[in-house]
Amino acid sequence: MDRIRITGGNALRGIIPISGAKNAALPLMIASLLTSDTLTLENVPHLADVEGLMRILGNHGVDIAVNGRRERQENDYSRTIHFTCRTIADTTAPYELVSKMRASFWVIGPLLAREGRARVSLPGGCAIGTRPVDLFLEALTALGADIEIDGGYVNATAPKGGLLGARYRFPKVSVGATHVMMMAATLANGTTVIENAAREPEVLDLANCLNAMGAKISGAGTKTITVEGVASLSGARHRVLPDRIETGTYAMAVAMTGGDVTLEGTDAALLETALDTLRQTGAEITATETGLRIVRTGDRILPVDVVTEPFPGFPTDLQAQFMALMTRSSGVSHITETIFENRFMHVQELARLGARISLSGQMARVEGVSRLKGAPVMATDLRASVSLVIAGLAAEGETVVNRVYHLDRGFERLEEKLTRCGALVERVSE
Ligand code: UD1
Repeated sequence: MDRIRITGGNALRGIIPISGAKNAALPLMIASLLTSDTLTLENVPHLADVEGLMRILGNHGVDIAVNGRRERQENDYSRTIHFTCRTIADTTAPYELVSKMRASFWVIGPLLAREGRARVSLPGGCAIGTRPVDLFLEALTALGADIEIDGGYVNATAPKGGLLGARYRFPKVSVGATHVMMMAATLANGTTVIENAAREPEVLDLANCLNAMGAKISGAGTKTITVEGVASLSGARHRVLPDRIETGTYAMAVAMTGGDVTLEGTDAALLETALDTLRQTGAEITATETGLRIVRTGDRILPVDVVTEPFPGFPTDLQAQFMALMTRSSGVSHITETIFENRFMHVQELARLGARISLSGQMARVEGVSRLKGAPVMATDLRASVSLVIAGLAAEGETVVNRVYHLDRGFERLEEKLTRCGALVERVSE
């Protein structure tokens, strides 16, 4: 199993290219199930989750060609991938595939909309909470689907003439359930109004792509999305938006180690709350024409309190990274997690590096220390893993992050991007 060895202490200086967003690429790829034409996606990141979803889509009958050719191109940062699903070969998404990645459950929406039925295993994914699927099932039921759970599978069936447009208000904001309801509603009979929808930029990216495919969606990016059903969708070409979580992660790494880094190919508007928070810690952040520049010169990291919230609030996917930064602040900060109930598994690992953190319910109290010291640590989920890398970059001596497969799910060429900026990071394979 691969490990990442980091020798801490170097400031980061240079340019880091930001990849396409994992959390946009996944639903966009799934949208290819909605049409028999080719959906071409540009700027698709090379990640284990993307590869995993390709396998799942292949099982449903999607023909996939990378950069116009069938073989994989290992050395491209940004890939263009063509997805063509002439016919749905299989409406079942089996446990062996879905259990590896929660987002693969989302195929339920397009399968149901196009084929009138779907049998999808209940999901697995990151161990960061119970993560139920009740909201998905309620939303699909609102569209007229008949849902039954049997042997760990959700069996969903649409009414004879297809799904029916409806008005539905989510009792809780869910990114995944918003994606699924929006996709399912594109082919429903009549108009669907989704209230209390997720406003994440990835939802807007998906809506833009679906509209390019012929869907009639308005209001994406706000709390109310309206989808007028159409009879069929066609192909389209769409560029995946930049990864705001990767952007924020590297910005936090620089805020912690000091230095001067330009993040290329990203957009500050995607993560204003997180960047404002970082500015309050003492980092200087300026938007450039093609991305943003982050500079940290002062040696004091100021403590700042954060509460995670649905977009446009502070993202839960940057909570662990921000906590790593706060372990070196000059005071006490409080970090409250409101999205996932079990997303503090990095706390005990950060403590191994010398961090002082105490937990009380959904709130962590982080007392800054003047130095962290390298140690072996274990990654437990995707964002927790990268928080350990950030902490390792600022720690004295050597930190070895075990179970790196979590990182490979969501961060493209992490060690290469950091090494180019002067960090001492290497992958050790066994
Ligand atoms: C997506 C992101 C993930 C991010 C999360 C919150 C992808 C691939 N993943 O995950 O990186 O951390 O948004 O920004 O885009 N919930 C229910 N019932 C449901 C569905 C969700 O109770 O049926 C709860 C979840 O347990 C959680 C909250 O709603 O507490 C938000 O989850 P959700 O927005 O659905 O997260 P994901 O879409 O899984």
